[in-house]
Parts: sequence; structure tokens; C-alpha cells
Amino acid sequence: MTEFISIQKALEQGAGKVSIRGWVHRERGSSKIKFIVLRDSSDIIQCVFLSEDFPSQWDEIDHLQVETSIELQGELHEDKRAPSGYELRVQSYAVIGTSDKYPITKDQSVEFLADNRHLWLRSQRMIAILKIRSTVFQAIDEYFKKEGFYEYHSPIFQAVQCEGGSDLFTVDYFGRKDVFLGQTWQLYAEPAIFALEKIYTISPSFRAEKSKTSRHLTEYWHAEMEFAWADFKQIQDYGEALLKHIVKAVLDKHQKELAILERDSKLLEPTIEKPFIRMTYTEALKILQEKCEMEVPWGKDLRTIEEEKLTQLYDVPIIVTHYPKKVKAFYMTEDPEDPRVVQGCDFLAPEGHGEIIGGSHREPNLEKVKERLIEDGEDPLEYEFYLDTRRYGSVPHGGFGLGVERVIKWICGLDSIKDAIPFPRTMERYKP
Ligand code: 4AD
Ligand code: MG
Repeated sequence: MTEFISIQKALEQGAGKVSIRGWVHRERGSSKIKFIVLRDSSDIIQCVFLSEDFPSQWDEIDHLQVETSIELQGELHEDKRAPSGYELRVQSYAVIGTSDKYPITKDQSVEFLADNRHLWLRSQRMIAILKIRSTVFQAIDEYFKKEGFYEYHSPIFQAVQCEGGSDLFTVDYFGRKDVFLGQTWQLYAEPAIFALEKIYTISPSFRAEKSKTSRHLTEYWHAEMEFAWADFKQIQDYGEALLKHIVKAVLDKHQKELAILERDSKLLEPTIEKPFIRMTYTEALKILQEKCEMEVPWGKDLRTIEEEKLTQLYDVPIIVTHYPKKVKAFYMTEDPEDPRVVQGCDFLAPEGHGEIIGGSHREPNLEKVKERLIEDGEDPLEYEFYLDTRRYGSVPHGGFGLGVERVIKWICGLDSIKDAIPFPRTMERYKP
């Protein structure tokens, strides 16, 4: 049996006879010579067919279409003009799957590419992003395992809200209408820290936000962690160390992919090398006023435009802490020094990519949690299972959630979050 090697391996080998296989990425030719650029998951390479070598097969070779799958054997040699610097002179080949005329050609509209997402996945751009995405998932997993966290899972069908009732997707659950797709694992994670102490997950979360922005998906992958005996600073420290670990993994492994995406990887280096900027919400307002001439009345949440301006002042992520209680979720701990604010934190990515992590210390006081649920219009009776976390051996705890696509968007320097996931789901798009 023929032993096939990846195109990357062939390029490393640089000379001699090799067998490779993949898809026709580009083709051009004349009556005597045919060039194809062959693509596999690892790289691309130019292959050349001479008509004198294939007198009886020339018609087939001449008509090879883009995206035909093919196996090739031939002799490698260096060729500085070829895309990857080497060329394969083909000695034998077999077509495995012919291709209809491929609909994706140069300069297609964004809409057309979205309609043909299943084919657009094969583009060099999407291949680069998907490889980085895979590394980001691996790095998150590695980080938490290394820190002694257990992987733990919450249900996706949930009957309570955690991050605002208006953003819930209702499910028809055997005719019932009080079941939703989870926005977060949090209310099911807090009960488990009494069993496992340190836990994490990477799972889909769902948000029915009516936001048509470049950073909102209705279905996104959410890396969340929760741990017992937490203080607020430790929660921020874990978030910072996790982001450093992820960015380092991508920089170590994906210089080639970042170059394909025309992403200046130097812009990511400060994130690994320097401590993140930490400031309170109140300090953030002062900086916005002094350095950006933006007036935000105390008590109002930061808007996208304000977050953007703030992050453009620094080359590392910013951790904004101590937001007003009114703008944050019911479960965040009231600050003992100033009960108007909570021990919650948002991590804002540099270059205007916005919030990538949201976390907090969890309010330990049962009555306060109940009060704030009632203020949100919720019935505390529905939350009994959750409130038990404050009744039986409660300990200080907290955690955060990281939007995986938001992080990929920042690392890859993407204009839209939609390119950070294979099949994006947004207000307007749920197909293919
Ligand atoms: O800030 P959020 O809403 O926090 C929570 O859900 C907490 N319960 C997490 C926790 O403490 N366990 O969401 C966390 C992160 C955000 O910082 C953002 O990165 C991402 O989830 N996110 C979204 N990503 C893509 N599309 C959306 N619509 C998103 N909404 C939130
Ligand atoms: Mg948030």
C-alpha cells in the first residue's frame, strides 16, 4: 500500500519521491503543461503535470477542476517561484472524487460566503482560524487540568435565568414554556464546588440578545470556572493566567496561521510579558474623562464605544472591577467597603475587541441574594436548589466565564466574531 505523507512533511523533506493527497486548490495550464496547487489540512504545494508524461490521460488532467480530490506520486524539487517554495513533478496520479464547478471564486460577497459556509470552511483563511480555535480549546483544557480543576458539566435545558431574563431562548419542552437554553452553567456549578471544590467546563451557551454587533452570537462556546475558598483577587489572577496561557500557546504554535490572517503577532506579545491593567469602574470613568473626553455618569454601565476607547489606551487586557450593583447580576458579592458596588470583574481585550471574560465573587448572604432576585422580578422559590448553596456549609467562592469566540476574534484580529466559529448563529442566521 502506498504510504502518503502530509504536504507539510513533503515540504520539510524538500527532495525525493513522495506520495501526497488532497484537494485541487488552484489550477492553470496549457496544452503541454498543467499546474495545480494541491491543498491538504497541513499546507499547499504546487504540482506540475507534463503532457509528454501522460499521453493517454491528458484530457482528464487538462480538465481537473478546483476541489477535485486526488492522490499524487512524484519527485520534489525546490522552486523559489512556487507558493511554498517547492514543486512536485507528478509521475502518477489518481482522481478520487471529481468536482463540479466550484461556486466559490474570487471576490464573493460576505452574504454568499455565509450561504456557502460549508464550502468556505475549505479556504486558507478558515483553515487558519479553525486551527487556532482548536489550540485555544486545548490550551483552556490544559490550563485548568494543570491547576487541579475537575471538568464538570451543567444541563443545557434550564428552568432559571442567571444573566437577565430578556435574553433567554424558550424551548417547547413537551408543551411547557418555562424551560430555557442555558446562558451559563453558573447556577448548576455553584452547588458542585461543595463536592469538587475546583471545576471548569467548555460548553455552548445561548443568548437571545437582540444585538446585531460584530461580537454577539446567539450560540457561543463558554469556558467557565468556579472554585471554593475564593477571594476576589484570586478570581482575577486565574483569568489573567488563563489568558496568558492561551495566547502563549497560539503564538508558540501558529505563526504561520497568524501570517495567513495578516495578524501582527507582535501586538499579542505584551499580553504574555506584562501584567494586565487593573482598575475599578470608578477609576475607569475618571480615565475616560481625562484621557478620552468621555463623560459617563456614575452608575451607568460602560457602553461598547467607551470600552473600545479605554482598551485603546493599553497594549494588554484591562480588568475593570467594582461595578455599580445595579448594572450587574444578582449573584455578585456586595463590596464590604462600599455597598453600592460589587466584586465583579470584566476583562476587556486590547485593540477595541471588548469584553472577553465576565466574573465575580458570589454573594454569600442568603437574604441579599433573595432580595436581588425579587428586584429582578424573579420568584426565589424557583431558585431553592441554588439558594441551598448558602444554607449548607457555604464557603466563599466565585468564578468567571470566558467567551471562546471573543478570545479567538481578538487573537486572530477578526472584524467579526462570526469567523471565529464554523457555523455562526446570530439573530439573522441559523442556516446552513
Ligand atoms: O459576562 P457573562 O454574561 O457572564 C456569565 O455568564 C457568568 N455567569 C460567567 C460566570 O461567572 N461563570 O458572559 C461571560 C462571557 C462574556 O465575557 C463574553 O466573553 C461571552 O461570555 N459572551 C458572549 N460571547 C459571544 N456572544 C454573546 N452573545 C456573548 N455573551 C457573552
Ligand atoms: Mg458580562
